[in-house]
Formats: sequence, structure tokens, C-alpha cells
Amino acid sequence: MTNRRLGVNIDHVATIRNARGEIYPDPLKAALIAQNSGADSITIHLREDRRHIRDNDLKRIKKKLKIPLNLEMAPTNEMLEIAIRNKPNFVCIVPEKRTEITTEGGLNIKKNKSLIKKIINKLHKRKIRVSLFIEPNVEDVKLSRFAGADCVELHTGNFCNLFNKNKKKNKAFLNLENSANYAKSIGLDVHAGHGLTYKSTLEISKINSITEYNIGHFIIAESIFIGLKNTIKKFKKIINR
Ligand code: PXP
Repeated sequence: MTNRRLGVNIDHVATIRNARGEIYPDPLKAALIAQNSGADSITIHLREDRRHIRDNDLKRIKKKLKIPLNLEMAPTNEMLEIAIRNKPNFVCIVPEKRTEITTEGGLNIKKNKSLIKKIINKLHKRKIRVSLFIEPNVEDVKLSRFAGADCVELHTGNFCNLFNKNKKKNKAFLNLENSANYAKSIGLDVHAGHGLTYKSTLEISKINSITEYNIGHFIIAESIFIGLKNTIKKFKKIINR
């Protein structure tokens, strides 16, 4: 029996709340239910435009949560200050464009090397684990290691798109497998996320070097039908089969 971790991303509970300008559903309530249902951590992405999670959600969730809180954030000074103030257990640095529907690709580490390095250093001083959200390729894994990251989170979006459309996905799978194995071999903890469903997660879980999955949109969508607790339990079974 493996012990792979499931990070539950609750951003889209806030999306539903914000769609009507209401105070429900409360992301904190979702975080606590996820915690009681076997989630290993809770992930939230505080976007620059605050389209889902807001500053006050971060504050309330951090105060009440007993399992680790993973804050996804863009590499900006504003977000660094927020992270230092709120002290999440983990930070995952992600690229961000205002106009994108979701996080469309991995970080461009080469272009933002010094800023990313500086952010990692400052977070490490506060004992915050830092991961970098990257495209699955060996070059970006190497750059993540040089920048001082503890972990890489491999963007599974390309694989999932091909998988969902029944298109050829062997190359996308190999990219994930090779970069995951390489990252592990140089001492990085390997995570995966983006666009994952039950079926694509089952496929990717064949890669033993991946130890953590961060899943959001599908979990919240599936919860409409079977509830958050049952969805989380199903995912925990899939990743630890
Ligand atoms: N991991 C990272 C770094 C993300 O930015 C996101 C959301 O875009 C996810 C995981 C979760 O993706 P999804 O909501 O598609 O499951």
C-alpha cells in the first residue's frame, strides 16, 4: 500500500459563491469537510484578480485548518508579502495571466529566475515548503532544482486534454514519467495537478515517483452528485491502489 497524498483544491467552491455575490457556499466549510474526509492538504489559489479565493478566505482557512494549507500564488512581491503574513505550510508558485480561464501552462523559470529564487529563499526562512508548477520536461526540473525548490508540481493539463478526447497520449505520458523520475532522482518531491479526473488520475498513478496530487475542478464538480466526502474517498483509493 502506497501513501500518496491528496491535496484538495477548493477554489471552485468560491467560484460558485462569487457567481451570485453571496456568502455561500463557504470555502472554509468545504476545507473542513475535506479535512474530515481524508484530504492530506487543502490547496487554494489566491489570484491577482481574486476571481475565486479572496484574502479573507485565506485568513479564515489558515486559522481553522489542522492539515497543511498549500497556497498557490504567482511570483510577485504582493503575493510574497501575503504568504509571509499568512504563513501557509506550503506554497506552490504558479504562472498567472489575467485573461486565462485557468492556469494554462507551467512557469517560465528561465525568464523569472532571480525573482523565483528570491521568493523561495524568503519562504524557506519562514519554513514554508516551496514547489514550482512546471511543464513536464527535464530542463524545467533542473531549473527548479537550481532555483532551490523542494518539489515540482508537474502540469498534467496536456496529458488530460489528450486523454479526455481519446487522442494519442503516449508522448505526453512519457514526458510526465521521465520528468517525474528525473525529479525524484535529484532529490525533489514530485507532485502532479491540473485537469485530473478519476480516469486520468488512475492512469497517471502508474508513475510511482509521483507522491502528491492536487485536484480541484473535478472534485468540486463531482461533489454535486455524490458529495465531497465520497469524491475524496474515491480519489484516495485511486492514488493509493
Ligand atoms: N495544481 C495547480 C498548480 C493549479 O494551478 C491547479 C489549478 O489550476 C490545480 C493543481 C488544480 O487543477 P484542477 O482544478 O484542474 O484540478
